[in-house]
Amino acid sequence: MFSWWTSGSESEALQVLIDKYDTETGGEVSNAAVSGGGGANARQALATRLQGGDPPDSWQLHPDQDLFAAVADGSVADITSTFEDNGWVDVIPQDVLDMLAVDGKYYAVPVNAHRGNVLWTSPSVLEENGITWDDSTTPDQFMADAKTLSDAGVTPVCLGDKDVFAASQLLETLIMGRVGGDGWNSLFSGDLSFDDADVKSAVEDYVDLVDMANEDHSALTWDQAAVMVGEGDCAANLMGDWAYGELLNKGFVENEDFGYVTMPGTSEVFDYVGDAFVKPAENAPNAEGEDAWLSLLLDPTVQADFNLKKGSTPIRTDVPLDDFPPYQKGAANDFRSKQIVSSLAHFQVAPAEFAQAYADAVTALNGDGNVDSFLESMTAAQSSLLG
Ligand code: GAL
Repeated sequence: MFSWWTSGSESEALQVLIDKYDTETGGEVSNAAVSGGGGANARQALATRLQGGDPPDSWQLHPDQDLFAAVADGSVADITSTFEDNGWVDVIPQDVLDMLAVDGKYYAVPVNAHRGNVLWTSPSVLEENGITWDDSTTPDQFMADAKTLSDAGVTPVCLGDKDVFAASQLLETLIMGRVGGDGWNSLFSGDLSFDDADVKSAVEDYVDLVDMANEDHSALTWDQAAVMVGEGDCAANLMGDWAYGELLNKGFVENEDFGYVTMPGTSEVFDYVGDAFVKPAENAPNAEGEDAWLSLLLDPTVQADFNLKKGSTPIRTDVPLDDFPPYQKGAANDFRSKQIVSSLAHFQVAPAEFAQAYADAVTALNGDGNVDSFLESMTAAQSSLLG
């Protein structure tokens, strides 16, 4: 079983699935996780295995374009009958179903909805500096506050972008804050150019925030940066709500050690990052085990136990949320009521070549801070790769 879940909370969440498999089948899961948040390392290792005709029984990927590429290259099996046998189409939101199907056939089992546009905040740092952020905070106000914090010697936004997705995701949510959910979608339909003035402002904000960030940001992983918030070492950290799972896993207490607010300008948007599992189209090592594995992922109790550890929203809409903590109740509610958009940093909303061009452009931007050259690269990528 192949994934990139190796942080404290990720491992514990994965263990829920593994334990269920062991109890149900009497079998044993071999955990082939490859470390590296966001899965860049795992993606490479997986490609090598698939090319060598040595697929795992099941692997993690994202719904939407990430899955569609795997369907197009023939590596994942059609599991429509598993969907039908289990009645899953009735309990999974349509927006998500659309990101799992090609020509009416299903290819992946979704396990959760992570929200990508959350700022995890330090209540004590914000209070000491007289700063309040809520759903009405504008991007301009946020940037002014960041400057105030930095001038006072406080790191406004801490970052852990050893794995580039953390930087890509920070910029993604800043762009969403300036262009909105519809504007975001227009970037991928080609109706909005990357050299749009609002996108440019967001990229400028990004460069300013990275300038004010912790100096060791490129040496830290996402979970190390999340812990900095819990310890009051910065005012905020932008991260998907896997950071919620991680903060709880590390013993931090919601609304005491940390708080949260959506990235300013994005309160009406749910930046969806989903995890899903597939099985190989051929060379299956253990076909029977694969079906048992995929089926248990959407068992209602497994959904509750897994997502409680992971920080995400259960993908089944019929899972009771009474035992979920406040953040997750709110996120689940938002998942059902806000505009769902799909993440670029996580290779969902656009083909891999475009998502990779974005990751490379962010890496270059981190090195040279050159906003114009970033916008040029992205505009070029937009016209050559989005078709
Ligand atoms: C995302 C994934 C999350 C979390 C995160 C950090 O791509 O959807 O489940 O694992 O990476 O590793």
